[in-house]
Amino acid sequence: MPTDSRASRVFAFSVLFLSVATYSSSQAAPPVPAKDAKSAGSSVVNAASPDVSKYVGAETCKTCHEEIYNSWAKTPHWKTTLDTKGGPSHQGCEGCHGPGADHVAGGGDKTKIFVFEGNSRQETSARCLSCHGEAHEQSHFTQSTHSSNDIGCLDCHSPHHAQEKEFLLVQEQPKLCYGCHVSAKADFAKPYHHRVNEGLVRCSDCHNPHGTGIVRQVRSLPSGDFICYKCHADKQGPFVYEHVPVKTEGCTSCHTPHGSTNPRLLNVMPVNMLCLQCHTFSTTLTAGGPIGPVHNQSAKYQACTMCHTQIHGSNFSDVFFK
Ligand code: HEC
Ligand code: HEC
Ligand code: HEC
Ligand code: HEC
Ligand code: HEC
Ligand code: HEC
Ligand code: HEC
Ligand code: HEC
Ligand code: HEC
Ligand code: HEC
Repeated sequence: MPTDSRASRVFAFSVLFLSVATYSSSQAAPPVPAKDAKSAGSSVVNAASPDVSKYVGAETCKTCHEEIYNSWAKTPHWKTTLDTKGGPSHQGCEGCHGPGADHVAGGGDKTKIFVFEGNSRQETSARCLSCHGEAHEQSHFTQSTHSSNDIGCLDCHSPHHAQEKEFLLVQEQPKLCYGCHVSAKADFAKPYHHRVNEGLVRCSDCHNPHGTGIVRQVRSLPSGDFICYKCHADKQGPFVYEHVPVKTEGCTSCHTPHGSTNPRLLNVMPVNMLCLQCHTFSTTLTAGGPIGPVHNQSAKYQACTMCHTQIHGSNFSDVFFK
């Protein structure tokens, strides 16, 4: 582990000086000294400072907080100590807790360092987003359903006391999510379900807990298609004869994504009732609706899918036969 050498600090300082200079000259307002872009306008105690002498480096923190330092050094955040480009405000303990010189000079004065406990979720999440805000996975966080319901990073993550090594989670999935989402827990306990409890599928395969910009925080594929195709590619086609709702309304027009008492996760049983929700017996077209079967079908008759087997689309039959 490299120690905070003087050379690297001098280097970091010159990088910082240059970036402050660039920042100031690129702004229309007169250059305000001793304020950087992130702290400007903020009244946060111990916000990032452009003054490098306010930073002492993680090795200094270690002298009094050895235990916490040693466990922290085994987490991915240790890597930030190598970030000479970001400068000391993005390195080590002070990347999150802010500049520590006054805290150290005060012999460990708690009021001179950013302590997460007791601060609002808005405040603590903003700290994390100062580095993670641009990352693809977290970039929608501030507009997410979680954030707007006052859920912050620390409801799910803990940099020092994570129970899960992977992703510094306070608890593993799905337990983490069930703690707040009781109805999802009930869904996945139903007889037919995606095997989330069994560990085969994760909540985060279909949702991004950091938000997606799509309703229900549901993920989409990079192509913009339904997330369901990620694992059910055979349903994607393209087919010569598409069953229209698969492409327009999506999988959830017929399936419940979490769990169901119906086989095949169908929304409605028996299957004939599902089909007849859209395919009425009427031979006259209802406005915009699909045409009903010309054959006389009743819900009591054999299952529609006995004959119309290729219900997600077909390359051979315009009525989805084999
Ligand atoms: C990624 C951000 C982050 C980094 C880096 C970080 N901390 Fe923390 N620290 C936190 C958060 C968040 C808490 C609140 C407790 C929690 O959620 O783990 C905290 C809590 C603490 C506490 C309170 C006691 C406790 O155990 O909760 C101390 C002391 C502390 N940090 C010291 C340090 C030191 C020393 C370092 C460097 C070795 C460091 N922190 C690095 C985010 C960070
Ligand atoms: C000279 C010893 C010393 C050094 C060096 C030091 N601390 Fe502390 N720190 C303390 C003491 C003592 C406390 C406990 C203060 C209290 O409980 O009132 C403390 C408390 C804290 C807390 C609050 C813990 C809580 O219980 O909420 C944080 C966060 C923290 N230190 C982070 C840091 C960081 C980050 C560094 C390096 C920049 C650092 N400390 C360097 C002595 C030190
Ligand atoms: C509702 C719970 C929840 C909240 C709130 C949350 N996360 Fe996460 N985060 C997760 C889960 C679960 C994973 C693992 C994702 C996976 O399995 O792909 C994760 C993964 C990550 C990862 C590693 C993988 C990646 O996406 O790059 C980072 C970094 C991360 N979160 C940062 C944050 C930050 C920063 C915040 C706050 C702005 C935050 N998280 C808020 C649950 C949450
Ligand atoms: C100073 C910049 C910085 C800050 C502030 C910061 N992180 Fe990170 N974080 C990083 C870096 C760098 C990584 C490692 C990325 C990698 O491995 O590629 C990381 C990784 C993570 C990971 C992924 C861990 C894994 O197992 O892959 C999570 C989760 C995470 N951070 C959460 C947080 C949370 C929560 C906060 C706020 C308390 C926070 N970070 C604050 C820079 C930061
Ligand atoms: C197979 C993909 C998939 C998995 C796995 C999944 N979800 Fe969902 N979830 C969805 C879809 C799609 C919706 C939107 C349904 C709709 O709009 O009708 C949704 C909706 C939700 C909703 C909002 C509506 C509701 O039902 O309450 C919550 C909350 C939710 N999911 C939480 C979770 C949790 C927690 C887990 C893991 C335990 C999870 N989901 C796993 C696909 C999934
Ligand atoms: C600390 C509590 C908490 C945790 C932990 C949590 N959530 Fe949430 N989640 C909420 C709240 C509150 C809402 C907004 C109200 C609602 O819709 O239930 C929400 C909303 C959602 C929604 C959007 C629902 C909608 O109607 O738009 C999804 C999807 C979701 N959470 C998935 C997850 C997943 C997946 C996890 C685990 C990785 C998780 N949540 C962990 C509290 C939590
Ligand atoms: C991460 C992969 C993954 C994603 C994403 C996914 N599924 Fe699945 N799905 C599976 C697996 C694996 C099975 C096999 C079920 C089993 O054996 O547990 C399955 C089974 C099914 C079944 C058949 C259940 C049965 O009883 O035979 C339906 C229907 C289904 N998924 C619909 C969906 C829908 C709709 C979506 C999108 C909301 C979706 N899946 C997203 C992995 C996934
Ligand atoms: C128009 C209604 C409808 C739509 C829309 C629909 N499905 Fe289905 N799906 C069904 C029916 C009905 C069955 C049961 C077929 C059977 O039992 O023979 C089924 C069965 C399945 C199965 C299990 C059997 C198999 O063929 O593998 C999976 C997986 C599945 N659907 C995934 C999806 C996915 C993914 C989507 C979205 C791309 C989707 N479905 C859209 C009606 C639909
Ligand atoms: C969510 C509404 C919806 C559901 C549920 C639904 N369909 Fe369709 N279906 C349509 C639409 C829309 C079309 C296209 C109609 C058109 O182009 O005139 C269509 C077309 C068809 C066609 C092709 C014939 C044609 O007129 O193009 C058949 C066969 C068919 N559906 C059978 C079924 C069966 C069997 C089920 C039950 C497993 C079912 N559908 C469930 C909406 C639905
Ligand atoms: C015994 C086999 C069989 C069953 C069961 C069956 N169909 Fe059909 N279906 C057919 C045949 C044969 C056609 C006509 C194919 C053609 O004209 O090329 C057809 C055509 C259709 C069409 C296309 C529009 C039309 O009328 O030509 C729709 C829609 C349709 N069926 C829906 C359903 C629905 C909904 C069910 C269940 C309530 C169902 N079918 C059950 C054999 C069946």
